[in-house]
Amino acid sequence: MQTGVTLWFTGLSGSGKTTLSRCVEQQLKRMGVATETLDGDILRDQIFRGLGFSKEDRSLNIRTAAYLAQLLTRHGVIVLASFISPYRDMREQCRQRIGPFLEVYVKCSWEECARRDTKGLYRKALSGEIKHFTGLTDPYEEPLHPELIVDTENTSEEQCTEQIIAYLTKHGYIG
Ligand code: PPS
Ligand code: MG
Repeated sequence: MQTGVTLWFTGLSGSGKTTLSRCVEQQLKRMGVATETLDGDILRDQIFRGLGFSKEDRSLNIRTAAYLAQLLTRHGVIVLASFISPYRDMREQCRQRIGPFLEVYVKCSWEECARRDTKGLYRKALSGEIKHFTGLTDPYEEPLHPELIVDTENTSEEQCTEQIIAYLTKHGYIG
């Protein structure tokens, strides 16, 4: 059986976490690797409808995701988890709980995410319609020692995907 691992994509809203995890998933599936995605937007829609973005609410969301990731990982699945997960302490708890755990910092400046504004959330946040908006009225604590940094502002989707696949290969998670 393959070795399971969780890739924990963290970054600002619109930084490219979901997009990238889908690209990596496609590649892994092509290679015949068992993989599963967990995504903040989906968990919030399917399990936590109405959950907000206070530290307490984010914590519940992240702890649940970590629990699911842990179950899958120990059964040999490569888990691609995409959550803003803005607090270092919460990501650290995920690292402690899930093994092996790779923190992938999906790096993109706030300005570029706001320029992309794929869901129109930045515009709403700037006009005061959304509270607790990450990077504006709520913090984002950058990872200090992530296993991987993918720079979606200056690097193409294909290159970022390749960087992640190369890391997994180099460290023996895929063969
Ligand atoms: S967290 O912090 O990890 O619990 O957040 P997450 O579950 O990843 O959910 C992020 C998605 O929620 C949408 N959204 C917001 N994000 C940040 N701040 C506020 N206030 C907010 N309101 C809604 C947005 O679609 C996020 O998705 P991504 O993929 O990150 O853009
Ligand atoms: Mg997303």
